[in-house]
Amino acid sequence: MNHIEPLISLKKVHVTYESFKALNGIDFDLNRGEIHGLVGEHRAGKSTMVKLLSGAVTKDSGSFIYKGKEVESFSPKSAMKNGIGIIYQDLNIIPSINAVENIFSGQRIVSTFGFLKSKEMKKKTKSLLASLNMDINIDLPLSCLTKQEQQMVEIAKALSLDPEILIFDEISSRLTPTEMEKIYKLLFDFKKKGKSIIYISHNMDEIFRFADRVTILQDGHRIGTEGIKDLDKIKLMKLTYSFVLSREELEKDNMELYLLKKYNENIIKNIPIGVLILDKDKQVSQVNLSAHKLFNPGENDLAGKGISNVLNGHLKDNIHEITKAIEQMSEGIWEDLQWSENRIVTIKVFPLHDNSRIFIGSILLLEDVSQEYYFNDYLLRSEKIASVAELAAGVAHEINTPLSVIHNYIDLLKPKYIDSDTSEKLYRIENQLSMISDIIGGLLSFTKIQSLPSKQLDITELVDDVVLLIQHKIINKNIHLKWEKIYRISMFREMKIA
Ligand SMILES: Nc1ncnc2c1ncn2[C@@H]1O[C@H](COP(=O)(O)OP(=O)(O)OP(=O)(O)O)[C@@H](O)[C@H]1O
Ligand SMILES: [Mg+2]
Repeated sequence: MNHIEPLISLKKVHVTYESFKALNGIDFDLNRGEIHGLVGEHRAGKSTMVKLLSGAVTKDSGSFIYKGKEVESFSPKSAMKNGIGIIYQDLNIIPSINAVENIFSGQRIVSTFGFLKSKEMKKKTKSLLASLNMDINIDLPLSCLTKQEQQMVEIAKALSLDPEILIFDEISSRLTPTEMEKIYKLLFDFKKKGKSIIYISHNMDEIFRFADRVTILQDGHRIGTEGIKDLDKIKLMKLTYSFVLSREELEKDNMELYLLKKYNENIIKNIPIGVLILDKDKQVSQVNLSAHKLFNPGENDLAGKGISNVLNGHLKDNIHEITKAIEQMSEGIWEDLQWSENRIVTIKVFPLHDNSRIFIGSILLLEDVSQEYYFNDYLLRSEKIASVAELAAGVAHEINTPLSVIHNYIDLLKPKYIDSDTSEKLYRIENQLSMISDIIGGLLSFTKIQSLPSKQLDITELVDDVVLLIQHKIINKNIHLKWEKIYRISMFREMKIA
């Protein structure tokens, strides 16, 4: 019989946490060169099973056969040395040290004399990250990187000892689609080399995308192991989730949920104000269309970036204050901030709590108020210009009155010095005065406000002013102006011009 021995074989394995039985007689095997999906409801025991393989927990009973040999228990270090690399469900890095130190913690490269070969470790780190298509600063502590970049460093660490088995525990919930594409490529390349993968996920699409077989766990028991070709998505979901009742109900529920999800996403997406939703680590988890417009159009991938990174380069001031408010889980409003490309924004920050009032992140509303701001500025400037014009008109009016008086006097003097030299001088004065009058006239027509707002006027006062202005001219032309005031209604005065 041509029997191919599995790489890993678990038989009737039990694992207990204090008194709680997490694995209850599990059977499982992993073949060489296969991608084995591991699915199950929450708390089914998936993470516990892979923790057993990676040496993070030990079994109470049952057998664990690795490459044909019975293993009592692995320690995390011995599991790694034996070719098992695991990417845990929770991020497992040391934030205060850089990528090189993280990758080589517990497995430093030393020379025969015991010296650390830092150059070699750096080189290896770079090539590991390059194989994951990652370009990150390896000298910075991981706390300065995004959660996704930290995650990729953890994967590089798992790859650093050239493992034969890679285990991914729900990685897709922590990475962006772009990074997941890199993971998918890694999975296929790894499999091509004849190596094996255990892939835990709640995402059935992923399982169907690359798993060869799938094992379903429930309440610490194995429900079954099936070849992916013998399953369809509905069947797998029914096997995996006890709340799934019938194909019809499943499809209906899914459709309703799907529509509800899309509906909610669309609301946020189309709100005419920029919305950034941050997780509790101040990293962007959702961005709507208006927010995208505020950032460079090419800068699509804001998701996963830290908020100060995202604001940097766009916002000139206040980044520190805003991040501080987010950190302190408080609210805040910053109005009329200078944004890139001469735009003006108002930023509002609100903490986000779940039903139990636990802080789960923040909402940032970014409103482009440039139009309003510049219009107000324009109005302010127009008002200033209008008041200058009013002032000029006032001055012109004031000058006009003495000018008219001077004109009158010149008219009076002219007949007296009809043939003399003085007469010539008087004409010159009159010419110069006419020039001043023209300038003033030009100034008045320039400052003339085209449409005056209507208001109640005392017409008699207006006529008084006009008469005063033109008196010398009409007298000169032998026109006699007579006018009288008639009190018809006690409140208003009327007049008649003859
Ligand atoms: N360290 C621990 N101490 C006590 N109980 C634990 C511990 N870790 C897990 N458990 C319990 O063991 C059971 C199985 O947990 P496990 O994490 O293996 O489930 P899982 O299938 O990975 O679930 P999930 O999909 O939520 O990640 C759960 O009931 C869980 O509460
Ligand atoms: Mg788990």
